[in-house]
Amino acid sequence: GVKRDLEGRSIMVTAGPTVEAIDPVRFISNHSSGKMGYAIARAAARRGADVTLVSGPTALDAPDGVRMVPVQSAREMLAEAEEAFTDCDIAVFAAAVSDMRPKNPAGRKLKKGVSDSELASIELVENPDILATLGASKAHQVVVGFAAETNDVIENAQAKLHRKNADMIVANDVGSDVGFGTDDNKVWLVEEAGIIDVPRMSKPELADIILDNAIRRLSE
Ligand code: C5P
Repeated sequence: GVKRDLEGRSIMVTAGPTVEAIDPVRFISNHSSGKMGYAIARAAARRGADVTLVSGPTALDAPDGVRMVPVQSAREMLAEAEEAFTDCDIAVFAAAVSDMRPKNPAGRKLKKGVSDSELASIELVENPDILATLGASKAHQVVVGFAAETNDVIENAQAKLHRKNADMIVANDVGSDVGFGTDDNKVWLVEEAGIIDVPRMSKPELADIILDNAIRRLSE
């Protein structure tokens, strides 16, 4: 049978990309299937948790028994994640947040036929770092972040662990053939106390391993 070891626990997950408006019909965004975050939300609900999934637009169905909070932009995602974060036990930041957004989105659809000089630039500003913002305000929560690296995977994940005040970084080698949009993943779980080398496995299987380790941190 399924272990119900998250009964009475509350979990917040961010997932998917964020979408940042250029005008009412155009946007900039990130590649993200949302598969990893949705797998974690689904596994946590199956294990008895009260789950809030703050998600940018994806092609995935809402997992059963999960409170879905759909968002578009990074600033919307931050506002909704902040609300769910306060009372949660475990917070998982699996979203691929767009690091920047157009500074002044046009109120009406941009038309073609204008001069190239008018099209030459879209001014961008930096978005908030949702994980770093909430990590900095962490109280009792176990905070789990992700890192997709092409080189120095462990070192970069350790730096992220500290910079974002996380308890665990799921470090992913995107230089290999697994990662974005795939069904399998090869990761290391990077914590202050050490590194766990997790063999390549499916995202649903990995979701349970990540939760096992977050639960271990809960009882510390
Ligand atoms: O710094 P980097 O984007 O590589 O960090 C990845 C981690 O930080 C992921 O857990 C991601 O969800 C989170 N993040 C965030 N807000 C941002 C950028 C990244 O929550 N603006």
